[in-house]
Amino acid sequence: MLLAYFHVMHMSSDLTASRLIAALEGTRFRHVEVHDEVESTQTILSKEDGPDGRVVVADHQTSGRGRAGRQWTSPPGRSLMFSTLLRGIAPESTPLVCLAAAVAVSRAIAMVDLDPRLKWPNDVLLDGKKVCGILGELAPGGEYVVLGAGVNVSQTAEELPPDVEATSLRLMGANARRGELLVDILRNLDGMLAANDWMGEYRERCATIGTPVRVQLQDEILEGRATRVRDDGALVVDGRAVVAGDVVHLR
Ligand code: BTN
Repeated sequence: MLLAYFHVMHMSSDLTASRLIAALEGTRFRHVEVHDEVESTQTILSKEDGPDGRVVVADHQTSGRGRAGRQWTSPPGRSLMFSTLLRGIAPESTPLVCLAAAVAVSRAIAMVDLDPRLKWPNDVLLDGKKVCGILGELAPGGEYVVLGAGVNVSQTAEELPPDVEATSLRLMGANARRGELLVDILRNLDGMLAANDWMGEYRERCATIGTPVRVQLQDEILEGRATRVRDDGALVVDGRAVVAGDVVHLR
């Protein structure tokens, strides 16, 4: 009983606003809130014209959103779910900032001794299975970008969505703490955005480059070999530049 109590205390105290704010000192991420339950951290930030570097974290989302209008679901307490509002990003750089976020998450996951790879544009994979999804949304007037990420931390196989090939850090053998992961991710992102230097690392980690792929475009399916990711973030498949679409690796 006592042990169980300490376990709960230990687990929850890692994700508190005061700890996160202290650990993120010196970065642009100075406004951090942690909620037990929200509709969607992404929706909260998209609705309010908040300050640069505002971060909203939730233990549970009731209407989590994924890319292309999909849902993002996770049982309470099992994943790291957060969004942040970024100002000073040129609207056309929104996709690039999402690539930066994927690199920032990968670096944080590499710190727990795993070897993450990326599926274009910004899925983070372990052993070919999705461990993190990233969503970037530009404000209607283009004044800011809301960047959200969901990292599967401690889900069991049964707790993962059945419709995607997904995994969690725990299933891959890592015992990561959500607060530490979040601080690592945001510190990485802060440095990358300041230095504007993530494309080289993105390409190194990108499993899509050199792989035969199927891309679901708006009204067409394109199959071919992905050869490179351009500086503007577009994926080149058999000489054709793809700026947005869902990719399947064919091997
Ligand atoms: C994807 O489809 O791969 C992107 C998933 C993004 C999920 C995160 S969880 C935190 C933030 N809030 C949301 O509603 N979505 C993002």
